[in-house]
Formats: sequence, structure tokens, C-alpha cells
Amino acid sequence: MERTFLMIKPDGVQRGLIGEIVSRFERKGLKLVAAKFMRVSEELAEKHYAEHVGKDFYPPLIRFITSGPVFAMVWEGDNAVALTRAMIGKTNAVEAAPGTIRSDYAVHTNFNLIHGSDSPENAEREIANFFRPEELVDYELTIQRWI
Ligand code: TYD
Ligand code: MG
Repeated sequence: MERTFLMIKPDGVQRGLIGEIVSRFERKGLKLVAAKFMRVSEELAEKHYAEHVGKDFYPPLIRFITSGPVFAMVWEGDNAVALTRAMIGKTNAVEAAPGTIRSDYAVHTNFNLIHGSDSPENAEREIANFFRPEELVDYELTIQRWI
């Protein structure tokens, strides 16, 4: 079983898409392990997006992610990282495949609704940035036996 960090960004929250987006991962058969409705501090934003320091889109990206509440989550399942990245779609909504979250609801790269970890290693790092170990809930999702 693999874990991934997903976060509905301020645009997704403002547009009332939390339920719609969460619903897709539930129906897929992934297991929700943790969730938090929160504001991202400047410090946390810089930690989360450290790989993008120095790029032209970095300053607006930090401003955007700290501009309003986000919905941070941890989901678990076989190949959870690759599976959720596929469901999210490419960074640029124009290139995102039809049926993906970014294709269905986003228009621009900078307002692309949701973050998803891009590797199991980054997932572990991002989960630790946003959640304390005791916030990850340990339980059995019985339907996963059938998925
Ligand atoms: P990146 O990690 O490349 O994309 P993804 O979210 O698909 O993993 O970039 C992080 C975020 O930075 C991206 O979701 C939106 C923003 N961004 C821009 O605003 N402009 C850009 O040209 C790129 C590449 C990213
Ligand atoms: Mg990324």
C-alpha cells in the first residue's frame, strides 16, 4: 500500500469543488487516511514548494497557495501516487486529458485546483510537512478487498 499527499488549492475551495474532487478519490476505491481544512503559512508554503525556488512562477505560486484556505489530505492505495496523478491530469489544463480533474474544471496552469505528490518519496516528505503522525488514522477500509 502506498500513500500520497493531495491538497485542494485555494481556487478549488473558493469554487466549491471540495466535495466533487474528494468524491472522485472515494469512488476510485482509495482510502482516506487524513484530512485538514487549513490555511498554509508562508513558511509551510516555502517548504512544500522548495523544488521551485528561483523559477519565475515561484513568487506568485507562494502568494496563491497562502491566499486562502486549502483542503489537505492523505490517501492510501496500491500505486496511490501514480493513480491520483493520472486522475488529476497534467499541470497545464490545456494538456490535461479529458476526464481528469484539471481538464474538467481548470483553465490555467496557475489555477489548477489541486496538488498531488509526484513520487512516493515526495509524498512521505509532503505528508510530514502537513500532518503529525497521530493525525494519520489507522483503520481498515473493507471495500479495498474488492478493488
Ligand atoms: P509542478 O510541480 O511543475 O506541477 P504539478 O502541480 O502538476 O506537480 O508545479 C507546481 C505548481 O506551480 C503548479 O501546480 C502550478 C504552478 N506552476 C505555474 O504557475 N506555472 C508553471 O509554468 C508551472 C510549471 C507550474
Ligand atoms: Mg509538483
